[in-house]
Amino acid sequence: MKIISNPLELKEYLKNCNKSIGFVPTMGALHEGHISLIKKAKSENELLVVSIFLNPTQFLKGEDLDKYPKKDEADKKICQLSGVDVLFYPQISDMYSQDEVSLLAPKVRGFVLEGTSRPGHFNGVLTVVMKLLNIVNPTKAYFGKKDAQQLNLITLMVKQLFMSVEIIPVDTQRDSDGLALSSRNAYLSPLEKKEALKIPLSLYLASKMVSKNILDAKEITDAMREYLESLEISYVEIVNREFESIKKVELKNTIILVEAKVGQTRLLDNIWL
Ligand code: PAF
Repeated sequence: MKIISNPLELKEYLKNCNKSIGFVPTMGALHEGHISLIKKAKSENELLVVSIFLNPTQFLKGEDLDKYPKKDEADKKICQLSGVDVLFYPQISDMYSQDEVSLLAPKVRGFVLEGTSRPGHFNGVLTVVMKLLNIVNPTKAYFGKKDAQQLNLITLMVKQLFMSVEIIPVDTQRDSDGLALSSRNAYLSPLEKKEALKIPLSLYLASKMVSKNILDAKEITDAMREYLESLEISYVEIVNREFESIKKVELKNTIILVEAKVGQTRLLDNIWL
């Protein structure tokens, strides 16, 4: 596995490779969720590039940038064992300068849900993903469905800016107890982890309601909110695949999303129906 930290060096290295390139961007602290993205990218492309970059511009003031889990050596080992061909491992100064061109998330889709709890977060996500895609110029790039709004906005960016990469959504990976895998799960105490399980269980409750043909969005979100009562809920929302709020579940076109805080940890989860 080749490790490159300079963007221009990586661009040069990949320029004449004449292979299909699969790309998995990450912020490190790799877990089974990342590994499933990596495996899918490996199986669908001739060359596999993974990036590890803890992007400061997507963290708001007071968020967990400083304490975000860092596992550099373990991450490198995971990449090596997973058959990664090139690991892109830049420093902040390799990616950003003092006076930057900025990319703004769309005014509506970028500032609802996660964008309301974290205003400006998606500006940072889109900016870094744009930079990474321009550096790697992949055939396909892989993103988890757990960050559904991020996935939606990146897909929109690629379409609206006429970029040629194909964005591939990958299913959420869960612990055996149902908790969606996230680097932030490392913050949870055993007691908090038990509380956090209410999040996937509330989604299970929602899917049970839908299977009984209860499709009214308010009825479903009310039941979920009641179930999640002991947590600090940021949002429980039902949207279509375009991320527009809907009043009735539309089968094969619906995402039910939850964001809640357990202790100090903000957790996201969703189901696609
Ligand atoms: O989902 C993530 O890990 C990050 O938001 C991403 C896409 C790597 C951009 O920093």
